[in-house]
Amino acid sequence: MVKFTSFLCCFLSLTISLSTNANDLFSKADAVAGKSLHEKNCISCHASSFGGDGSAIYTREYNKIKTSKGLITQVRNCNTMLGLKWFDEEELNVAAYLNQTYYKFEK
Ligand code: HEC
Repeated sequence: MVKFTSFLCCFLSLTISLSTNANDLFSKADAVAGKSLHEKNCISCHASSFGGDGSAIYTREYNKIKTSKGLITQVRNCNTMLGLKWFDEEELNVAAYLNQTYYKFEK
């Protein structure tokens, strides 16, 4: 069982590092679930510093995020910083939602 789990981990990180295509990265993600997670946990703080519905933070001109992988990393960082304890799957759902709605990365 231990062997199987570590095999699975290797396999997963391999597939993630090999796929550069956003469609592949997000193929199993649920952007609708991501949207509601995002509304519940993420908007209020962005809105208080950026105004409106807070989405200006995703569309600002100076933007450090350039790829869907970078976006997933940023979502993970916020999740860790906030102590939300989201599962990988939930991080991916939110990243997929943000990509679909704002970033539109293709890779
Ligand atoms: C406590 C306030 C706060 C909360 C809550 C918060 N964020 Fe942020 N977030 C920020 C700030 C401040 C920045 C800008 C950081 C910077 O300029 O480097 C940011 C930046 C980001 C960015 C990068 C925007 C860009 O394109 O440059 C993403 C993506 C993001 N947050 C996602 C999330 C997600 C997902 C959540 C919910 C899990 C979340 N944030 C919750 C404060 C917050």
